[in-house]
Amino acid sequence: MKDGIKIVTIGGGSSYTPELIEGFINRYHELPVKELWLVDIEEGKEKLEIIGQLAKRMIEKAGVPIEVHLTIDRREALVDADFVTTQFRVGSLDARAKDERIPLKYHVIGQETNGPGGLFKGLRTIPVILEICKDIEELCPNAWLVNFTNPAGMVTEAVLRYSNIKKVVGLCNVPIGMRMGIAKALKVEPNRVHVDFAGLNHMVFGLNVYLDGESILDKVIESMADPKNEMTMKNIAGLTWEPDFIRGLGVIPCGYHRYYYKTSEMLAEELESAEKQGTRAEVVQKLEKELFELYKSPDLNIKPPQLEKRGGAYYSDAACSLINSIYNDKRDIQPVNTRNNGAIASIPNDSAVEVNCIITKDGPKPISVGDLPVAVRGLVQQIKSFERVAAEAAVTGNYETALLAMTINPLVPSDTVAKQILDEMLEAHIEHLPQFFMKSSLLK
Ligand code: G6P
Repeated sequence: MKDGIKIVTIGGGSSYTPELIEGFINRYHELPVKELWLVDIEEGKEKLEIIGQLAKRMIEKAGVPIEVHLTIDRREALVDADFVTTQFRVGSLDARAKDERIPLKYHVIGQETNGPGGLFKGLRTIPVILEICKDIEELCPNAWLVNFTNPAGMVTEAVLRYSNIKKVVGLCNVPIGMRMGIAKALKVEPNRVHVDFAGLNHMVFGLNVYLDGESILDKVIESMADPKNEMTMKNIAGLTWEPDFIRGLGVIPCGYHRYYYKTSEMLAEELESAEKQGTRAEVVQKLEKELFELYKSPDLNIKPPQLEKRGGAYYSDAACSLINSIYNDKRDIQPVNTRNNGAIASIPNDSAVEVNCIITKDGPKPISVGDLPVAVRGLVQQIKSFERVAAEAAVTGNYETALLAMTINPLVPSDTVAKQILDEMLEAHIEHLPQFFMKSSLLK
C-alpha cells in the first residue's frame, strides 16, 4: 500500500462521523491517513457541511496533517481509495421510524436489524451497496470495503453473494460493547478480557471468556444472571434475564438476544415506550437534532460526550482498529463479519458470519470454533436463513421471496401477519424500493 492512506466514508454526514475522526486522530502515528473523503447525497448536504467543518476543527486541534474533502460525487471520491467505509441510511431516520412503528401495529417487534424492520432496511440498502460495489470495482479495485451499514450481517451476505468484491468486512460495535460490559461487571480493565465470539451480526454469542488468559465463563454467566448487572446497549432496554435460563444457556448472549428470548416482555416494553417517548428512531431523531446543533458550534473541536447516548458507541474503535490491523498486518484478533470458510461448522462455508478473526494485510482469517452449542445453533441458523432469503428478495424484487423472509423471521408469528406487515411496509417504503415496483431484477 502506498504511503499516506486514502479513506472514503460513504454516509459521511452521519452524526457518528466524529467517532471515526477521533479514531483516525488517535491512531495517526501508525495509521497515516492522508486524505479523508466524506461523501453524502444531495439531501444530506447540510449535515455533511456541518460534520466536515467539525472534522476539520478536530484535525486542526490534534495537529495531524489529514486532508478532509467533502463531496456528493461518490465516483469522484472513490478514485484510488485504499479503504471505503459505508455508514449510510437509505430513507434516513424517517424510514427507520416506519420500520419500527408498522410492525408494532400488528403486535410484532420491528427491530431495525434482524426483525421485520431489518428486512426492509435490507431491501432498501442492498441495491445501493451493490451499486457502490460496482463503483469500487471500477474506480478503486484494490480497496477494502468496511461496512457498518445495518443490517450489517445481511449486507455482508449480499456483497459476498451478489457482487464481485472479495475485500469486504462487516463491522459492528456489539462485540466490543459486550467485552466492555463484562469488564465493567468484573471491575477490571477491558484489555485483560478476551471473548471467543461466534455467531452472526446482532446474533453473536460469547462462547468463552478469559481474564488474563484464564477462563472465567462461569463467573461471567453468574454476573449476567444477576439482575443488578444490566449489560445492554443504549438502544436496547436492559430487561433482566431469568437467571436459570442464562445458566442453562451456558454461553454469553448479546443485547439483541433479548428480542428472541424475551419477545413478549420486549414487545410490551416497545409498545409502551413508543407511546410515551416514541420508538427508538423517533428518540434518536431528537438526539440527532441536539447533536447537530452542538456540532455547528465553532468552539467545538472534539467528539462531544453526548454522542455516547447513541447505541453505536465504540464504533470508531471497531472501524479504525480493523483498518489499522489490515494496513499494518497486525495479526491481532478482532470479531468481524466475514465469509465463514468453515469457521462455524453449523453455517454454510460461503455465508457471512460474525466471528473472531486474525486480521492480516490480506484481511480477516476466521478462527475455527467447530459447531455452535446445540442450545443456540437453531436460532443462529434460522437468522442466517432469514438473512439469505432477505438478501435474495432485495436483489430480485420478488414478492414471494420477501414474504418468505418475513414469515421465517422468528419475531413474526404467522404467514398471514407476515403478509399484512409486508404489504403495509412495501407501500410505506415505495420510493426506496424500485426493484419491487419497476419489475426489473438486479440479478443479471
Ligand atoms: C447498536 C448496534 C448498531 C446500531 C446502533 C443503533 O450499537 O450495534 O448496529 O446501529 O446500536 O443505535 P441508535 O442510537 O441509532 O439507536
